[in-house]
Amino acid sequence: MFLWRKVVSIFEKVEPFPPDPIFGLANRFKKDKKPHKVDLTVGVFRDENLMTHTLRSVQEGEKILQKIEKDKLYLPMGGDEAFVKESQKLVFGEDFCRNARGTLFGAQTLGGTGGLRLGGEFLSREVTKKVYISDPTWPNHRGVFGACEMEIETYPYYNSEKHTLDFEGMVDTLSRAPEKSVVVLHACCHNPTGCDPTDYQWKALSTLFFKKKLIPFFDFAYQGFGRGIEEDAWAVRYFANAGHEMFVAASNSKNFGLYGERIGCLTILAKNEQLSKNLSSVIKRLARVNYSNPPLHGSGIITTILQDVGLIEMWKGEVEQMRQRIAAAKNELVDALNKQFGRDKFGFLKRRYGLFSMLGLNETQVERMIDEYGVYLTQSGRINLTGLNEKNLPYVIEAIIKTGS
Ligand SMILES: Cc1ncc(COP(=O)(O)O)c(C=O)c1O
Repeated sequence: MFLWRKVVSIFEKVEPFPPDPIFGLANRFKKDKKPHKVDLTVGVFRDENLMTHTLRSVQEGEKILQKIEKDKLYLPMGGDEAFVKESQKLVFGEDFCRNARGTLFGAQTLGGTGGLRLGGEFLSREVTKKVYISDPTWPNHRGVFGACEMEIETYPYYNSEKHTLDFEGMVDTLSRAPEKSVVVLHACCHNPTGCDPTDYQWKALSTLFFKKKLIPFFDFAYQGFGRGIEEDAWAVRYFANAGHEMFVAASNSKNFGLYGERIGCLTILAKNEQLSKNLSSVIKRLARVNYSNPPLHGSGIITTILQDVGLIEMWKGEVEQMRQRIAAAKNELVDALNKQFGRDKFGFLKRRYGLFSMLGLNETQVERMIDEYGVYLTQSGRINLTGLNEKNLPYVIEAIIKTGS
């Protein structure tokens, strides 16, 4: 009896993994007892009362789905084909999809992260191990592509002193990247900076990618949160129409508020139908040996919405409301900060898109904001604008000013 207690555990050598930088902060926030604490960390949309809701279009879609869904059988390895088609129409536009002639392959994925991972594994095994991610970027890019055993390099992206895109630095580094390197691009609403290339800069990048034979991998996690559903797809559509072979990992976590359903779509655009068929068999095999097939519910909801004229309009209206809430929170923050500083010190934020922006705070200031005021933001100084509202804004401004001096 109890002999097992004397045996050395097989887990003796397991070292604890450091907490995820973002989810770790969320836990610290939960435990914080400060009465006026403010959470500006996790990438979730919140309304003016800082609440999260299931979208009305999603609720209505679920009601319809309940009536029409006959069973809970497995989806195919590449997911629900109707969902993939609808998702691709959103990303690439209907005309492009209609004329694609078998060159667009799509697989339903476990959120945007699942799409990045599936695409990364495919690239690592079949094409190249070299991948370039922006500096800074969403921290999980390093995690995901590292897990795909890719060699990760960074390209400069943001000049935090001038608060501008470091386009020269980006072009300079990518010009020297080996041929066939993968370059991860945020299709819109760059996380964490909110700073996107202009149309002119995207065009220049497209030319550079052709010249240097680079592989564009668009991470498209925020369609609809920047300038609008169609407008945010501009860069992806420009590259696709220009004729690049490319990857897009689209996420529906944010724009359908389906965070926990784990739903997204990986699309690979190849030169011709045969290549597309070949690579699709590899992608399906990778899905098969990983999770076998993706979950049913999220794709059912989205397909129901996007195939119902009334629900599409309802959903588009809700995305527009979320977009406007983000823009309003940003404008109020900028106006309040500028008023405090007596000059247009934060005007650059007006040219930022999506949930996130960087205020230009250093790590010491960020730590003081968290420690002394309970205002939580990521170490890079990134804030989720929808963590702000009329009530907590003055307190956040006070924390910025007092910790900045
Ligand atoms: C840039 C970026 N890519 C991908 C994702 C992952 O999205 P999902 O939750 O759909 O996996 C996020 C989520 O925060 C993100 O910010």
